[in-house]
Amino acid sequence: METVTVQLDARSYDILIGRDCLRDLGHLYAERGLGKTAAIVTNPTVAAHHLKPVRQSLACAGVKVTVITVPDGEQYKTLETAAQIYGDLIAAGLDRQACIIALGGGVVGDMAGFVAATYLRGIDFVQVPTTLEAQVDASVGGKTAVDHALGKNMIGAFHQPKLVLIDTATLETLPKRDIRAGMAEVIKHGIIRDPGLVAFLEDHIEGAATLSLPAGQINWLIARQCRIKADVVAADETEKGLREILNYGHTVGHALEVVTQYAHYKHGEAIGLGMTAAGHIAVQKGMWSQEEFDRQTALIARLGMPECVPDLQVDEVLARMASDKKARGGVIRFVLPERIGKIAPRDDVTRAEIASGIRYIQALG
Ligand code: NAD
Ligand code: GLY
Repeated sequence: METVTVQLDARSYDILIGRDCLRDLGHLYAERGLGKTAAIVTNPTVAAHHLKPVRQSLACAGVKVTVITVPDGEQYKTLETAAQIYGDLIAAGLDRQACIIALGGGVVGDMAGFVAATYLRGIDFVQVPTTLEAQVDASVGGKTAVDHALGKNMIGAFHQPKLVLIDTATLETLPKRDIRAGMAEVIKHGIIRDPGLVAFLEDHIEGAATLSLPAGQINWLIARQCRIKADVVAADETEKGLREILNYGHTVGHALEVVTQYAHYKHGEAIGLGMTAAGHIAVQKGMWSQEEFDRQTALIARLGMPECVPDLQVDEVLARMASDKKARGGVIRFVLPERIGKIAPRDDVTRAEIASGIRYIQALG
């Protein structure tokens, strides 16, 4: 297994990446001295494929496990579902020594993490991510949240896991569309931080998006994402500065998700469109070269991402951006590329430039 450590002093933790390693969870959990009682939070889709080895492995390690199942979908990443989980934890008698184990994609991970951050004022938590999105991004870094009808991830907490266990074999049951959506975050990491990764993707993106690269290369690719994110989080855990770069594509992307009621796009798809809009704005501002923007556009196009919804109202998107948690004093913030591997937060993007970015993605067809 590959190990990436998120260096956060007393809250440091390992991300372990391997193949067919769900069965190792029990001893890895026990090695870290985590509680003798645990709740696995998952959904029916993930449970059908991957719950059994996780549960058995914990039982073999002497952990008493309660399974809590939540409905599948971003529309359930809400305080109401969190309340259901709190109720199940209380009914099962879980105390402060207990641990929550998130088994699933970013939706389960964000919500289970938020519950772990708040139940009994905070208990331990382990991430077992089963989507590419969650393996390369959501499970790392300690951002936990639920959505509000008026905005994405509006209610949340920073709460780092004690361990992240990534079994890349779980991706084999994931729908192809979710793999492609997760690959958009991989492109994001390349553009913000890693020109070598962009060059690798230019050679291999179809193989990566169909998981047809050799298993060792898939593990290496996922570990590289975790390393990029771990370095940024170690430098700026609570997004006072550097961590903002991870929000590339998110200003437009989150607004697209909210105005389409989370029903039209996978998260990574919205981020792909958001990166295109942000890249266009950066080129219009004279900050980024057309040539590098075209390289980003070509990579996203090779994933075969969905088109922008045609009837998008620019004013509605702008209103959502202004109330997004990334805005400061109502001023919309973007992160814009200067060159591949270098990106900067900006609060000087005008309404006309944003409208131009949105019209650009609408016209892509
Ligand atoms: P998701 O959790 O909804 O998973 C996508 C679909 O795949 C779901 O239907 C799920 O049930 C299914 N699934 C999961 N694993 C599977 C498997 N192995 N086999 C078959 N089906 C499987 O979506 P996602 O794309 O994983 O995550 C998106 C969420 O992550 C968003 O809410 C986003 O805001 C959040 N996110 C958080 C962070 C963070 O730093 N906390 C970062 C990025 C994204
Ligand atoms: N996905 C943005 C972050 O973790 O900071």
